[in-house]
Amino acid sequence: MDFYEIETKYGAGVYAKQHLSIVRGQGASLFDADGNEYLDCTSGHGVANLGHAHPKVAEAIAKQASTLITLFESYPNDKRATLMQKMVTLVPGLERVFFCNSGTEAVEAALKFARISTGRTKFVAAMRAFHGRTFGALSATFNKRYRQGVEPLVPGFSHVPYNNIEALENAVTDKTAAVILEVIQGEGGVYPADPEYIQAARRICDEKGALLIIDEIQSGFGRTGMMFAVQHFDVTPDMLCCAKSLAGGVPMGAVLIGEKVDNLTPGTHGTTFGGNPLSCAAGLAALAAIEEEDLAGQAAEKGAYLMDKLRQIDSPIIREVRGMGLMVGVELKQKVAPYLKALQDRNILALNAGMTVLRLLPPLVISYEQLDRLVVALTDVLTAEDS
Ligand SMILES: Cc1ncc(COP(=O)(O)O)c(C=O)c1O
Repeated sequence: MDFYEIETKYGAGVYAKQHLSIVRGQGASLFDADGNEYLDCTSGHGVANLGHAHPKVAEAIAKQASTLITLFESYPNDKRATLMQKMVTLVPGLERVFFCNSGTEAVEAALKFARISTGRTKFVAAMRAFHGRTFGALSATFNKRYRQGVEPLVPGFSHVPYNNIEALENAVTDKTAAVILEVIQGEGGVYPADPEYIQAARRICDEKGALLIIDEIQSGFGRTGMMFAVQHFDVTPDMLCCAKSLAGGVPMGAVLIGEKVDNLTPGTHGTTFGGNPLSCAAGLAALAAIEEEDLAGQAAEKGAYLMDKLRQIDSPIIREVRGMGLMVGVELKQKVAPYLKALQDRNILALNAGMTVLRLLPPLVISYEQLDRLVVALTDVLTAEDS
């Protein structure tokens, strides 16, 4: 049996498996067992901002693995304390941090903190939003596809059209604990927010006494051309959820917390693996590399280069090219699945975002040659006679 057959036979069945097994990565390249190279424009759904097998992250993990892997947060630790000090410098005004292990857990924590802190129960999220798959985060997620079959979800959530200030204004009341928003919707189709929308969300929350939670799980750590996408708009949320590339690929999530969030006393929340020294050591190495290599600056420049080239593709099936930095969506007038397959046949791995959007989330270390290779392949598949 090959790996595909084994995983299809023994896996739970919740993932659509590709007929492509990957055994190694380097920078923006992935390799199968025969050594064939694939250009990775998925980054494991936005995790590998630093590329695969980054030497500094690999070294930090190896060193920490033979020092101390696990330690519950009740016991302070050198790596965790140092990472906390680093995390609270990332967004001025967010001066505390809660560590967890994934994106959905970061959202789950932020939702709980909002209820604990405000004593209110309601949440306002956006249509097309994706915030994760555990019950709280799933309740903030909009698409029926993720919700069907597991309802009832957590009560108290409503969804408003994205980028519509009036609708948000009407939905937030004195019962709203928090508004939760992505600055650029990822899974929902790569839709950037209007700057005025995020700024209005801040104002509306302040006026109504609600907290503003910004989900940067996909857009964080340089991806959009700033450390966090919300920093493009000069807005400070009350909580910022992050995960994915925080620890260079080692599972880790975090909530950065502002001063309006309080009543977080021992026992109100927690998680066994949260802030474990292995993830923290990886996080320290990853954040140092993101800053030293100016990955945010690289994402801004490479993203502008890529979107410019993509907009020059003369194809009747492209509806729109949009994005921020290296979080790029190519909306097609048709279903995207056959084009993803055609790209994979040309050794390029990309993602969908819904039925018609082709999503590109390459490692931020991708080279200009590799970006050109992507553009040539995309031009090829999107302008083919039978496309
Ligand atoms: C914006 C956003 N929020 C939350 C999540 C959930 O993260 P995780 O899959 O680590 O639970 C994702 C995952 O894609 C995401 O893109």
